[in-house]
Amino acid sequence: MVESLLAALRARDPYTYGHCCRVSSQARLLAEAAGLSVYDQTRIEYASIFHDIGKIGIPDAILLKRSRLTTAEERVMQEHPERGVSILKPLESIPFFADIIPGILHHHERIDGRGYPYGLAGDSIPLEARVIIIADTFDAMTTTRPYRNKLDHEKAYQELKQFAGRQFDAQLVRIFLRAHPTWELLTEAA
Ligand SMILES: [Fe+2]
Repeated sequence: MVESLLAALRARDPYTYGHCCRVSSQARLLAEAAGLSVYDQTRIEYASIFHDIGKIGIPDAILLKRSRLTTAEERVMQEHPERGVSILKPLESIPFFADIIPGILHHHERIDGRGYPYGLAGDSIPLEARVIIIADTFDAMTTTRPYRNKLDHEKAYQELKQFAGRQFDAQLVRIFLRAHPTWELLTEAA
């Protein structure tokens, strides 16, 4: 089931598919570094795999646009967390899937309450969503998109630091900055 949903995403938008795979492994590592239980790590891994699955429902003209989105297009794009929840809703009777829905729904909420879809702030944002947004943003910043070049890791670390406490959970940013360079070594060695 997981694989068919991912195959649909991959056919629709290969960049988003690759992004979801990378975010999922980094979010799990961050959850582990933060001392979360193995169940929470797995929950976060799967919520991250599906965090952008709702993009399947976004029109091509917006999803695959090669330049910056207009405000109206951005509003449509911002529907993707809720669209993702409706895609997984039929599986909600399985407790594990019910447990990954909050991470998907809230992965664009900001600590200062200026995120979406609900504008939740601080600790009222589910912990898994606070973990996912860090891995999500770091991957988005460090990969090349048609409309902007990628940042090197040092610059991306600086951005996370700068927005800690506003966009991101400050404590989780500290943990990410400490742990991320060691994951790098892991992937290089693999
Ligand atoms: Fe997203």
